[in-house]
Amino acid sequence: MSEPNETESPERRGLLKKLAAIFVGGIVSLAAPLSGLFVFFDPLRKKKRKTEEFIRVASLDTLPVDSIPQRFSVVADRVDAWNKYPNVPIGAVFLRRTTETEVQAFNVVCPHLGCAIDQKGEHYFCPCHNSTFSLDGTVNDPSPSPRGMDALQVEVRKGGVWVKFQNFRTGTEQPIPIS
Ligand code: FES
Repeated sequence: MSEPNETESPERRGLLKKLAAIFVGGIVSLAAPLSGLFVFFDPLRKKKRKTEEFIRVASLDTLPVDSIPQRFSVVADRVDAWNKYPNVPIGAVFLRRTTETEVQAFNVVCPHLGCAIDQKGEHYFCPCHNSTFSLDGTVNDPSPSPRGMDALQVEVRKGGVWVKFQNFRTGTEQPIPIS
C-alpha cells in the first residue's frame, strides 16, 4: 500500500481535488445535452423508406397479356427525418404483362435529365429531348438518354403486381440507385 505523500502540500492537494471535481462535473453536465442531441438526430440515422420493400401497384387483372404498357402511380408511406406521411405518391411506373405470370416494370423517370417518359403504341418516348425506348426498355438510336429505362423488380402475388420501387441518378450510363 502506498503511503500518503508527506511532501505534497495541502494547497496542491486542494487544487487536484478541484480539478478532479471540475472534470467530473463537466462530464456530468455534458451527458444530458449530448443524449438530447442523440435523440434529436436519431431519426436521421433511420432509413427513410425501406427500398427493399415491395409495394402493391396494381391488380394483375388490369393488365392483359402482351398489351401496351400502362402507367400506375406508386403509393406508399413517405417518411422523412421526423415525419411520416401515409399513402402518398412516391413515383410512377409502367407495367406491361409479358406472359400469364410475368410483368415488366419500368420507372417513368427518363434517365437523361429526369422528365416523365410517355408511352405511345409500340414504344416509349420522352417529350423533353426526344429520347425513345423500345417496349423492353432499351434506348433507341439516336437518343440523348445515356441508358435504357430503369427496370424495377416485380413480383406477382395473390393476383397483385408488387414492385420494388427505386429511383436512379440521371445522366449516367449505368443505373445508380438513389437512397
Ligand atoms: S429528359 Fe428525357 S430525353 Fe432529356
